[in-house]
Amino acid sequence: MAEGHHLLLTGASSGIGRNAARRLEQAGHRLTLICRSQERAQEALGWVGPQTTVLLADLSDLTSVDRVCGTLLDRHEPLDGLVLNAGLQYAGYKEPRCNPQGFELTFAVNHLAHQLMLMRLLPLLLQSTSPRLVITASEVHNPESGGGRVGRPAGLGDLKGLSSIPPAPMVDGDSRFDADKAYKDSKLCNMLMGLHAANLHPELPVICWSPGLVIPRSSDGFFRESRRANPVGQALFGFVARDLFRITESVDNAGELLVQLVTERGGSGFSYWCNTLLGPGRHSFERMDPSEEASDAAKAERLWTLSRERIHSVLSV
Ligand SMILES: NC(=O)c1ccc[n+]([C@@H]2O[C@H](COP(=O)([O-])OP(=O)(O)OC[C@H]3O[C@@H](n4cnc5c(N)ncnc54)[C@H](OP(=O)(O)O)[C@@H]3O)[C@@H](O)[C@H]2O)c1
Repeated sequence: MAEGHHLLLTGASSGIGRNAARRLEQAGHRLTLICRSQERAQEALGWVGPQTTVLLADLSDLTSVDRVCGTLLDRHEPLDGLVLNAGLQYAGYKEPRCNPQGFELTFAVNHLAHQLMLMRLLPLLLQSTSPRLVITASEVHNPESGGGRVGRPAGLGDLKGLSSIPPAPMVDGDSRFDADKAYKDSKLCNMLMGLHAANLHPELPVICWSPGLVIPRSSDGFFRESRRANPVGQALFGFVARDLFRITESVDNAGELLVQLVTERGGSGFSYWCNTLLGPGRHSFERMDPSEEASDAAKAERLWTLSRERIHSVLSV
């Protein structure tokens, strides 16, 4: 991708997305960043230059997401890249949290908000001469992967939780909430959403990827919520994983990988790229096969349809 492209990113106020956004701006791209609040945007994005626009939307609230999509559509500016990178987890918590529309928060932010953005902004993306969709998923979508083997495995069953009213806390319909599995499931949803988008638009490059385990030393970042639930356990986990066994990836390298995906790698159609741990301090970034469940085109279509129906049901009231 040559410089000067218009790229929209979610999750650029922290971690991997912030690192990638800075690099992309320095490389001469025009960015639109979706941040949850003015405070968060100012605090985290002091660096933004004249080429960057910040729009506010809280991805936990579908009406807020819908509103920002309306603003973008009113501007009629084609998008060369849509980078759906925001994400959260709150592993360690026993009770589910819900968004204003009653959906479990991990599923609402990581999947539903991004599907709504994708549904509404696809026309802007398809107006570009070289569009691409990049979705930050995770290897934990795959029960056979290193991270996916720890704890209960990802699995959406027959999506019963999504068709029940009110929606169940788990997508597979299980009434027992498991925050760690909810996160893995949301990343499986990311993979299936990417697969279905590619099936709908074969000319569109759709790239899902896994950055590896990224645990910054700072008190913010991806594990901030889990740290609140279990400060000692998470501090120990961070130290052991990052400093003792060196099985983590740096924010800097992960940000650089995201830039590569946005600007260089992947051809037309769907691809999955994984930053796999080889040994202490060593990763290999390669195209890989998704898990069996993430390769299920019929399930991808059903997830897309059910998610669209649920989104429409709450936005039309
Ligand atoms: N870190 C890892 O080990 C790891 C591993 C595999 C996959 N991933 C994935 O990588 C992506 C980026 O993670 P990261 O490590 O960079 O984490 P991070 O530092 O916590 O960044 C997450 C980003 O998502 C945004 N976000 C979360 N909830 C939001 C909401 N309701 N509205 C608007 N924005 C919201 C955050 O905004 P605020 O700054 O306002 O909170 C932040 O910009 C996520 O999709 C994550 O699932 C991470």
